[in-house]
Amino acid sequence: MDQSFKTIIEPFRIHSVEPLRMTSESERAAAIEFAGFNLFNLHAQDVLIDLLTDSGTGAMSRDQWAAIQHGDESYAGSPSWFRFEAAVKEFFPFRHVIPTHQGRAAEKILFSTVGGAGRIVPNNTHFDTTRANVEASGAEARDLLIAEGHDASALHPFKGNMDLDALESLLKERRDDVPVVFLTITNNSGGGQPVSLGNIRSVSELCHHYDVPFFLDACRFAENAWFIHEREEGQSGRQIPDIVREIASLADGMTMSAKKDPFGNIGGWLAMNDDVLAEKCRNLLILTEGFPTYGGLAGRDLEALAQGLKEAVHPDYLRYRIRSTAYLGEALDKAGVPVVKPIGGHAVYIDAKTLLAHIPPLQYPGQALSVALYTVGGIRSVEIGTVMFGRQPDGSEKPAAMELVRLAIPRRTYTQSHVDYVIEVVTAVAKDAASLPGYRMTHEPPSLRHFTAQFEPL
Ligand code: F0G
Repeated sequence: MDQSFKTIIEPFRIHSVEPLRMTSESERAAAIEFAGFNLFNLHAQDVLIDLLTDSGTGAMSRDQWAAIQHGDESYAGSPSWFRFEAAVKEFFPFRHVIPTHQGRAAEKILFSTVGGAGRIVPNNTHFDTTRANVEASGAEARDLLIAEGHDASALHPFKGNMDLDALESLLKERRDDVPVVFLTITNNSGGGQPVSLGNIRSVSELCHHYDVPFFLDACRFAENAWFIHEREEGQSGRQIPDIVREIASLADGMTMSAKKDPFGNIGGWLAMNDDVLAEKCRNLLILTEGFPTYGGLAGRDLEALAQGLKEAVHPDYLRYRIRSTAYLGEALDKAGVPVVKPIGGHAVYIDAKTLLAHIPPLQYPGQALSVALYTVGGIRSVEIGTVMFGRQPDGSEKPAAMELVRLAIPRRTYTQSHVDYVIEVVTAVAKDAASLPGYRMTHEPPSLRHFTAQFEPL
């Protein structure tokens, strides 16, 4: 692309469209009340711009739809499996690749195998399903993010980095209780912030020094590699696939949700070098997901992912992807809306603690903002704060480290005018933020409460 022009355009044109359904503010107010003020509970057709998640919601390419026609649905040894396996190993050459229907299935299998009471699994920040799967095994999920990562406004190029001193002291004291060290790239729960190659190297060295396996939660590996390319000294001359392969070479395995960077509507995998662990995991896979050459997926899904992986690392795409997320974040910042900075890769995170300072954390300021964005403008976001993380394994409730509202950007799905509309709505809601009420939970399920909890305004 000619770098002398400043406008970074979508590196695609639209081939097939889906209608959006317009609704009125009073219809939306009724819909959200009916949904128990939980945005997960809305009918998606009542949502205008759906920024709930970037997971499984991206637009597949012409070439992915074409690949789907090559799907071979043989139970065992399908050619689609071998294409998928080769595409994964092109970037992540682990000895064993175990396909799953999505990321959490890979987590469930791994932590059922290596977790258990008395164990600790450190991570920069566990995503909600990762934390829940670690805890479901009886183990403790411990977040060891650098201090800057907890400060919404601290400007640090790699706010997803692991706190190396904290990791080392944990490994020094409790090495035998740590079955695996995880690193989430990019750090979703902490604002979509990248981890530097230098930090990944250091985590790898520490793990190998203490002889503990090092795994990546690599859903957004391509976006993370782009940030390394853009921000890390000595990396700008490298190709994205080379950076990805170096990251993979530093780890002993990975869990993956292929619903993110690889442009899948469904899919995931677990990969590792350890033969003994792989055999245990495959045995569980057969119990819960399927035969090891399809996991929880159809042959056509494997084909779509093999093609999507190739598209995920294209520099024109990644430049557009990261720039278009920053476009939204920078506009909100300019309008005085507090956002996590620097802007992350797949989403913009509004700092609801600052914007709704009148609402205490246990009255869920992030939920209050999410409900208002929907009611006023039909935008669906997600709370990443005390609703998601407040309930502790011992039954107590405590405020989360941050109260964020995430506007996640589905890949290749919305245009710049959709984003301009979002900017207008968020700015209007933010101006009126002091009038928004807090919330109380009227129904709370025993785990992962944010998905199905019911609320009422105070
Ligand atoms: N790890 C991370 C960092 C994630 O962001 C997700 C999913 C998972 C694991 C689990 O993968 O959904 O395929 O089972 N994140 C989605 C989100 C749901 O909205 O951020 P999954």
